[in-house]
Amino acid sequence: MGHILIQDLTKTYLRRGGVAWQFNSEADPVADDELLVLNHIDLEVYDGELVCVLGPSGCGKTTMVRIIAGFERSTSGNVIIDGNEVTGPSSDNIFVFQHNGLLPWLTVEENVRLGLRHMKDRREQAERVSEYIDIVNLSGFEHQYPHQLSGGMQRRAELARALVVNPEVLFMDEPFAGLDFLTRLKMREEIINMHEYFKKTVIFITHDIDEALVMADRVVVFTDRPATIQLDLALGFPHPRDFMREPDLEALRRDVYVGLGVHYAL
Ligand SMILES: Nc1ncnc2c1ncn2[C@@H]1O[C@H](COP(=O)(O)OP(=O)(O)OP(=O)(O)O)[C@@H](O)[C@H]1O
Ligand SMILES: [Mg+2]
Repeated sequence: MGHILIQDLTKTYLRRGGVAWQFNSEADPVADDELLVLNHIDLEVYDGELVCVLGPSGCGKTTMVRIIAGFERSTSGNVIIDGNEVTGPSSDNIFVFQHNGLLPWLTVEENVRLGLRHMKDRREQAERVSEYIDIVNLSGFEHQYPHQLSGGMQRRAELARALVVNPEVLFMDEPFAGLDFLTRLKMREEIINMHEYFKKTVIFITHDIDEALVMADRVVVFTDRPATIQLDLALGFPHPRDFMREPDLEALRRDVYVGLGVHYAL
């Protein structure tokens, strides 16, 4: 479970205002008042894979995730999760991790419990909630409100809220945005550990190339808008990964930087 098939996915938005957004190629014309964002994307994500998606700002990463999660309709093409075509949001098998996704008027425990609100057995529910709070190392902070936690602790609470649902697919769209460098490194480690433990399918969007390369089973790099897939790299390197000790990983890192148009930060 957690298999995603994206077939020939295209998305255009209506252009706003009178300015031409882009030059549309003759090969794939779209009307002047439309903005082509995703351009015939084909992608298969395998069960239990952690795929990091990289690409220039505004190329269409969030749009793609919103379409896969069923929040947004594609203009053409299909998304099939575990054999079923996505026609709208489904809370059973997918979870979209958002930062600032905690409800401020609920405690950590109550926020995590939200994911299990349909569970009838209250004792089992309480056990699951406390198990996941423990997994993210927040035991002792169950009764704190989000504003009483540090940024990193808030992210961990959000992670517990996502994982307690036990989704087949977890979408994470720049989940570490705004975290300080050290906390971000620690959160990466936690995601890698969680992933090795839970083996759920994760689609993780980031702007951080090194982050993608140390975390992912596979890195997918989008071109600038309209997005097509520019690079699709399987990374069979064991964790923890170290660029200094893995020359092949370091070489891939260069390819990705260059692919994204950066030549000087190498
Ligand atoms: N609801 C909308 N209506 C019209 N245009 C939209 C809408 N949502 C997104 N867009 C446009 O689609 C393009 C892609 O947006 P998207 O948010 O998917 O980019 P992104 O790759 O996630 O960028 P970032 O890395 O900055 O988050 C942008 O040009 C944006 O202006
Ligand atoms: Mg985005």
